[in-house]
Amino acid sequence: MVSPVTDDREEIALNEAFQAKVDAELKIEPKDWMPEGYRRTLIRQMSQHAHSEVVGMLPEGNWLTRAPSLKRKGVLMAKIQDEGGHGLYLYSAAETLGISRDEMYEQLHTGKAKYSSIFNYPTLNWADVGAIGWLVDGAAITNQIALCRCSYGPYARAMVKVCKEESFHQRQGYEIMMVMAEGTKEQKAMAQDALNRWWWPALMMFGPHDSESTHSTQNMKWKIKRTSNDELRQRFIDATVPQAEYLDLTIPDDKLKWNEEKQSYDWGEIDWDEFANVVAGNGLCNRERLQTRRDAHDGGKWVRDAALAYAEKRKKRAAKQAA
Ligand code: 3HC
Repeated sequence: MVSPVTDDREEIALNEAFQAKVDAELKIEPKDWMPEGYRRTLIRQMSQHAHSEVVGMLPEGNWLTRAPSLKRKGVLMAKIQDEGGHGLYLYSAAETLGISRDEMYEQLHTGKAKYSSIFNYPTLNWADVGAIGWLVDGAAITNQIALCRCSYGPYARAMVKVCKEESFHQRQGYEIMMVMAEGTKEQKAMAQDALNRWWWPALMMFGPHDSESTHSTQNMKWKIKRTSNDELRQRFIDATVPQAEYLDLTIPDDKLKWNEEKQSYDWGEIDWDEFANVVAGNGLCNRERLQTRRDAHDGGKWVRDAALAYAEKRKKRAAKQAA
């Protein structure tokens, strides 16, 4: 927790010592002194990351009762449960910075906090479940591997666990796409249609271009962000295009072309108006997603009340026994 500072000289010395620690690749822990801006940007990013995990359960949840087999249903159930666990893990890590769970929920439910725009797109058929695992979790892994080296200890350690589970998520998605791409003509067409609808929103997950990024410069100095938005996006594109080629599916970008000199792909341009529109709350599913979260929170009130009442009873019983 940030301790009050007496005067500017002390503030400068504390900031210099803090930056030296970050530069030396030492982890910052909850009880360490940290600049208020560092704490605030981490609460912003970590809580929004947690919101993304929890809201991210909803698009795929839509297909749990419609899964084509018991096996697919079991795999999807495991994946969705993982995402919920990632969310709770990240809320707990964010709480170490002094924000309460209730405050974070209130920020999400009132629309004050963001979550990843990707989760405001509809899942129209089973191929979407494959495309989400393959592309959305693939993009998340690319981003989260970098976060394993974040300077804030609780966040970096949470990412190590999360990344292990994300790789299963990505593989199960790619396997769905493979079965469909090698299936009937109709199934392959569904896989191609899902790739066409999820490709560009997946690229938006890496955030605006570096030149437009609000937080990148400072967050890279603080080693919260270890690799820039554009670099991670390029890394994801370079890894994913060969996977699409293997499936004999076409990436929906007619400017995509291997650049021998750069040893990576040249590609087109994201529709940043669409990005801004979805982030502003006008995507196809924004309202539905937030309402579902509010209803789940309200519907779960009795569980929270019962757990709190039980904890209170245990506390009273322990106090009585101790007396
Ligand atoms: N959707 C919504 N908002 C976005 C966004 C997106 N795809 N990309 C960027 N933004 C927002 C940022 O939050 C910031 O707004 P804010 O100041 O109100 O928070 C603004 O756009 C400017 O972007 P910056 O690049 O300056 O912001 P960051 O430095 O925070 O970089 C980020 C954005 C790369 C998403 C970074 O926040 C990050 O790495 N977050 C952690 C990872 C994360 O949240 N991933 C989301 C998906 S989680 C997931 O997919 C789970 C998987 O299991 C399915």
